[in-house]
Amino acid sequence: MRLAILLCTVAFSVYAQLEPKKYTTLPLGQIMPAGWLSDQLDIQTNGMAGHLHEFYNYVKDSDWIGGSSAYSSLEEAGSYWFNGIVPHAVLTNHAELKQRTLEFLTYVLDHQEDGGWLGPEAGNNRTRYLWGRYPFFFGAIQMAENDPSLTDRIVDALHKFVPLANKMVKAGEGLEIWTNTRWEDFVMTLQWLYDYHPNGNEELLLDTMKWMKWTGDPWEQIWQEEIFPTTEVDNIENPTGYVLTWHGVNMAEGLKALPATYRFTSNQTDLDLASSGWDLLFKYHGRPSGIYGADEYLAGREATRGSELCIVVEAMFSGNYLFQVIGETKFLDQVERIAYNALPGTLTGDMWARQYDQQQNQVAAKNMTPNPFYVNSAYSNVFGLEPYYPCCTVNHPQGWPKFIANSFLFNTAQTELVHAHLGPATVSTTMANGNAVKITVDTLYPFSDSISYSITADAPFKFTVRIPVWIQAPTVNGIGILPSDGLYSVDIEAGETSIELGLPAEIVTEERLHNAIAVHRGPLNYALDITFDRTIIKNNTNEPRASDYEFAATSDWSYAIDPSTLEYSYTEPDGGILPSPIFDEGKPLGIITVMACPIEWELAGDTFVKPPPESPECIGDFEKIALTPYGATKLRIGEFPVVSSRS
Ligand SMILES: *[C@@H]1O[C@H](CO)[C@@H](O)[C@H](O)[C@H]1NC(C)=O
Ligand SMILES: *[C@@H]1O[C@H](CO)[C@@H](O)[C@H](O)[C@H]1NC(C)=O
Ligand SMILES: *[C@@H]1O[C@H](CO)[C@@H](O)[C@H](O)[C@H]1NC(C)=O
Repeated sequence: MRLAILLCTVAFSVYAQLEPKKYTTLPLGQIMPAGWLSDQLDIQTNGMAGHLHEFYNYVKDSDWIGGSSAYSSLEEAGSYWFNGIVPHAVLTNHAELKQRTLEFLTYVLDHQEDGGWLGPEAGNNRTRYLWGRYPFFFGAIQMAENDPSLTDRIVDALHKFVPLANKMVKAGEGLEIWTNTRWEDFVMTLQWLYDYHPNGNEELLLDTMKWMKWTGDPWEQIWQEEIFPTTEVDNIENPTGYVLTWHGVNMAEGLKALPATYRFTSNQTDLDLASSGWDLLFKYHGRPSGIYGADEYLAGREATRGSELCIVVEAMFSGNYLFQVIGETKFLDQVERIAYNALPGTLTGDMWARQYDQQQNQVAAKNMTPNPFYVNSAYSNVFGLEPYYPCCTVNHPQGWPKFIANSFLFNTAQTELVHAHLGPATVSTTMANGNAVKITVDTLYPFSDSISYSITADAPFKFTVRIPVWIQAPTVNGIGILPSDGLYSVDIEAGETSIELGLPAEIVTEERLHNAIAVHRGPLNYALDITFDRTIIKNNTNEPRASDYEFAATSDWSYAIDPSTLEYSYTEPDGGILPSPIFDEGKPLGIITVMACPIEWELAGDTFVKPPPESPECIGDFEKIALTPYGATKLRIGEFPVVSSRS
């Protein structure tokens, strides 16, 4: 009895407050895109994402989704859209989109039930699941941070929702198998309230966090090396019994679960497993494009298995959070690879069409027979409005804006500013003790090897730059530097400071299955760009630009390459400005040339390609071919058979 009381006391004191994050985000809008990243967001405005509210069923009505579907997965559509368009609208300062997100927010808050429920089930008898709200909460938090005049309203609504959610989860209500995998997204919302607007409700917030975790899927079991799947899981039974944890998107979101847990358990094992779990995922399922293979469930390393677009943007968001809690820069390195390769590679250059599943070796984009994707339909590979399933249509717009919004971070004390994702941007913020700081980041990175910073500050502060793992000999103002754990800090004085960061990178090859290799330089993965004809296979009568397309190759792709001949070449852009859209055929500036010979390499059906031949033989003469950044290719070879051109 005594012992029990003692344990309770100890437990209470341990759990009494949240562990701080090592790094925190800046309020939305204090970091704005510049240069080519600004152009990329304009492309997104002019593409599908910026127009969905005008024509797309699931989001065009202001009453969340309009329809009366009781199917929980569709209830998520408006919520997903909101989560992505809020930061997009702010980062593009787009009046109409800002107005749409404000209307959406206002509608949802105006229709909150007296009992606290938020969402399309308020005021009716539709079945209630908790999860569909979580992306909406993320969007609302971003709006509160961007516009303090909205904060009270949002915070009050959340505090009204929490007691209801607490009751529901204790009664086993509002939960279903998808919600059970994604509890961490709600825990993060609860933690935001706890950190910034607890309003005296700390105990209820903590209690709800713990209930969400202990009723949800146990991610600590999933990331155990002994049971982690090392191949595609098509015919493997998940030994934990939590079958949806091997689902690609659940996993991308679930990467945040243990770091979120750590904040209230202070259990180092939670962080260790989150970090080693990340490594396992990329070791056994990782792609040269930065993302992992999961056409629907974990899909191993074969180059024709797919990676779903939703996992691309969710893994990016999770990687940011993992760094903020754990502090290891490997998470940011991976996020940058995903952002600069896998994200643009699965959308057309104009961002009007997207895939559900992208392939590292993709010699066509069409409805395939046979289907390489196991559970998904072969239609997942076409480019269009909503091939296979609508989720990525509404969820993908968060990718670029959140990447930018997470590109600078504070340390907990707000005495240090960290440049986490390298790319052109401007920052205008206030640090500890009212220190007003402005930074302009002028760069074409990753399409160049240098970054110029112009900094003005009222008072001294510590400025830290992430030096990616692929940079061998970084320099500051021409002098070599030694980063520590992927970070390099400079003491900035009051007044104006300029810094030139040099980020030279070497060509690196990566071993893949079947003796094949992938080619990288800096964060960019290089692939053979296959030219193609595009055919409309489904017209969209509401919005002709949102049609579905099949891409058929018009150039040769069956080559083996000689890695000893890889060579980088770079042409300065006209007027220092990149072509637009940068992630499109023939656009990026740096190319890698390599000696290659044609080989026999068969198709596996109509139409995807067999694995790279393990011992290829040349059937023609060597020629020099050019590899271009993966993100600019829509049909490609990204894993190459290897030959020697020296006899
Ligand atoms: C909800 O169901 C109850 C009980 O069946 C019914 O009395 C009520 O009218 C319904 N409410 C709505 C808004 O349909
Ligand atoms: C820490 O977490 C691990 C993994 O979930 C668990 O096995 C262990 O019991 C936890 N330790 C404490 C002190 O709760
Ligand atoms: C799409 O519309 C165009 C123009 O009306 C028409 O020529 C084409 O056959 C249509 N394609 C499909 C697949 O319906």
